[in-house]
Parts: sequence; C-alpha cells; structure tokens
Amino acid sequence: MLKNLLKRGTEEVAEATALGVVIAAPPNIFQPFLSLGAAPDHQLSILATTRDAADLIEDIRAYRPQLVLLSPEVRGYSPEVVSQLANWPEFPIAVVGLVPPTGNWGAEMTAGGATAFYTTPVTPAIVGQFDRQARTLFDQAREQWNAPVAAAGVPRQVVEAVGTTGYAYRTGVIAFWSTKGGDGKTTLAVNVACLLSQVAGKKVLLVDADMNCGRAALHLNMQPDQNTLLHLASDYASEAQLTGKMLRRRVVGADRHLDSRTRVVESRLDVLFGITKIQQASTPELHGQQGQHFMGDLLRLARELYDFVIVDLGSSTQMGPHFGVLNAADVVIFICTSDRTSLFHNRSTLQALVSEADLRPDKFKLVINRFDPADRIDLKDAADFMGMPIFATVPEDHSRAVIAAINEGRPFVLQHMGKNKPETEATLNGLLAITEEIFPPMGAIIKARSGQNGHKGRFSFGRRGNAR
Ligand SMILES: Nc1ncnc2c1ncn2[C@@H]1O[C@H](COP(=O)(O)OP(=O)(O)OP(=O)(O)O)[C@@H](O)[C@H]1O
Ligand SMILES: [Mg+2]
Repeated sequence: MLKNLLKRGTEEVAEATALGVVIAAPPNIFQPFLSLGAAPDHQLSILATTRDAADLIEDIRAYRPQLVLLSPEVRGYSPEVVSQLANWPEFPIAVVGLVPPTGNWGAEMTAGGATAFYTTPVTPAIVGQFDRQARTLFDQAREQWNAPVAAAGVPRQVVEAVGTTGYAYRTGVIAFWSTKGGDGKTTLAVNVACLLSQVAGKKVLLVDADMNCGRAALHLNMQPDQNTLLHLASDYASEAQLTGKMLRRRVVGADRHLDSRTRVVESRLDVLFGITKIQQASTPELHGQQGQHFMGDLLRLARELYDFVIVDLGSSTQMGPHFGVLNAADVVIFICTSDRTSLFHNRSTLQALVSEADLRPDKFKLVINRFDPADRIDLKDAADFMGMPIFATVPEDHSRAVIAAINEGRPFVLQHMGKNKPETEATLNGLLAITEEIFPPMGAIIKARSGQNGHKGRFSFGRRGNAR
C-alpha cells in the first residue's frame, strides 16, 4: 500500500515518453514489476534490475532513470543509498521503497528522501498502483529536487528544515550599493538573491534599480521585455497608486530560466528588470522626486509580499530612485574594494548621506569585495577607517569563474555549490557568508555542505570577525 500521501496542487506533466525505472531488489520482489514494460502503451520502461546496491550507482549513471524501486533487502543497502539517490546532482530521481511489513523501513527511507514506499509482498495490485502513480511520484520528486544543493551534497532534510518557518530571522529590503562603478554591486546582488531563493528556498524579489542601465538581465540570461522598472513606474504614474496586482503583472519568475530541470509550481525568484537605455533614467516617471517616491512605495509594497527584496543599485546618490532605495532599505550592503580610492570615496559619501540626508548609519553593512591579501591592506584598518565592522569579505576570484558565470548567463553560486578549486571556493564562501548574515538559517546548509565536501578553514576570508 502506498503510505506516503501525495501533495496536492502539483501540476501533471504531460509527457509522451515512458518513464525509466531501475529496480534494486531480490528477484522475488522485482519480478512482478517486469510485466510493466511489456504492456501495450506502457507508461513505464524497466531499464535495469540489480540485486546489489553497489551496482545501482553504475546503473543510475548508465540509464538515467526517473524512478528507482529500492528494497532494503538488497545487498549493500544502507540509508545513505536513499539520500544519495534522492539528492542525485544531475537530475531528479523518485526513490520508491519496497519494504518488509515488519520494522521501521518505510519511515527510515522517507526520512532519507524517498518519495514513497510500498509494503511487500508485491501483489498485482501494488504493481498496478505503481503504474498509475509513477508519473505523480516523479513529479513530486522533481518538485522537491533542488539542483544547486543536490550538487553540493546537502541532504534534503537540511534544506527542508531551513525552508520551514519558525526560525527567527529578519526579512526585508536589502540594497547592494557602492559609490564606484565595478565594485561588484550587481554580481553580489544577483548571487545573494539566487542563494536565498534557489538554495535556502525563500521567496525573493530582485529589483534592478541601477539608473545607469542595470545588467541583472544579462547575469540571468533573460530578456527584460515588459518586465522593467520603467514599465511599473509608468503604471504607477498613470494609476496614481501601486498594488500587489500591478507588481505581480510586471515581475517575471526566474526559476525556470535558472534550471529547466527544476520544476517549481511557484517561482522562488521573481525579477523586475532595470532600464535598458540610459535616457530612460530621465523620463518623468523615474526622474527626481517622482522616481524617489515610486521606489519608496514599491519597496514598502514588495516587503509585504516577499521574504527578501534584493535591490541592485547604481553608484550615484543624486538620482531619485537610488536615493529612494537607500532611504527605504532595511539594510544596505555597502561594498568597498580593497583599494584606498574605494574606501575614501565610500566613506565621504556615507558621511554626507548620514549628516545631510539623515540616513541611519547602522543600516550600512560593510562588505569588502575582490579582496586579495597581496593588496597589502589590513582588513582591521579598513574597518576602523570606515567606522564599522566588516560584515563579510568576498575574495577576488582568481579562477575567473565569476566572470565566466556572467558570460554564460548562469549565476556563479548556482554553478559552484559542488566541489570547487580553492580560489573559486573562497569566493563562494564570501557570498555564502553574506547570505548567512542576512538569513542565519542558511548556516545549516553551509555546514551540511562543508561536511559533505570535507572543507576545512572555509571562512579564512569569508566570515565576519576576521577584521574585528
Ligand atoms: N569577487 C570577485 N572576484 C572577481 N571578479 C569579480 C568579483 N566581484 C565582481 N567581479 C567582477 O567585477 C566586474 C564588475 O562587477 P559588477 O558589474 O558586479 O560591479 P557593479 O558595482 O555592479 O558595477 P556598476 O557600477 O557598473 O554597476 C564584473 O566583471 C565581475 O565579474
Ligand atoms: Mg552594476
């Protein structure tokens, strides 16, 4: 009998091709299933059978099945086999247990990530049930599957625990800002938005508010089309208000673009793209006070609808929308690079904002990006000079993976949650550290990832506390 109740509200996948099944079980258990592939118009194709868990992994690589029927009575079985399959990094697999009637096997397999289990002996009724339910079981596994964390070897239970409510953390609007071009505002904003949404499973809106022409669309390899800040600002100007319905009409879900294999019913990352021509910054809808009020109203609304609103800003404080964001943000990730010009410029602009525009200094959180010990700057001195502790440090990526990710249009963090070269890993850790500071439960995923990957001293640069 199928013990695990299927989730409601999931879409059916209408796919013509048969689903592939690999069975790991003793012969008396797998034999009844062999009839499935022989039926006319069969929905399922039995690709391989094995009596040994050690061969199973090879079969998965060779046959790439959508479903695995797994008996704990197979040679070499352990609960780790279940979680290995359920977290297979390259594609989702529905693991379905075939468990003896006595013992706690079903619960153990489900805890390890199995989608469902049937109790042996395998009767024709069970075979028929599996035939009818296989596609739904696979859909369910595919929905829960999370490519980046699967690649990192993070067990599904950890991700689910992080995704649940009950953790004390602050939601809100987080702006990424620096006073100089090229400090890494867009790169850090896009990657932190991806970590919060795709890895930690929070509901995130990424807003590209750079009035010098945002580039978030390029980072995500998406077309801005009608989903831009200017379109929403025009709606706002013509209707003299901003509602959730108006916002939802303009944002676009990014999850499917980020990973076509991941099928989520509701997108976790929505995006509002930026202006696409520099002249658009001077249109009445975005210019001066109007632009400032629009951004304030937009962020106040978005804060209610999302767990996190991540805003990529341009450097100038003189543009209405930029100032509107700095004013309305709960936290401003204030990015400096480790050269003196960046530090001096950032400090004097911050001082002016605090004294003349009355912005709260404590909402500015200092992040040193592109750090390299060879730059001969002491992080403690940098923190003292800026008058605030270092929130996180992101090392310079000497492996060029950060730039390669932009050129490929697939964010760096989503490509590199698995095993990395040390230089790439150090930069990833800096980005994870920013995310953990914003959303502390992320620490559980970071810990699970480091356990699986056997990293040591991961935060030699990444973590707060190395400067103060
Ligand atoms: N930690 C890093 N290591 C290596 N390269 C980085 C790092 N951070 C950012 N970069 C690179 O620096 C360049 C500038 O980054 P980005 O466009 O994010 O800066 P920005 O502050 O948004 O610039 P702008 O002011 O023009 O909007 C990009 O090519 C990016 O790949
Ligand atoms: Mg930018």
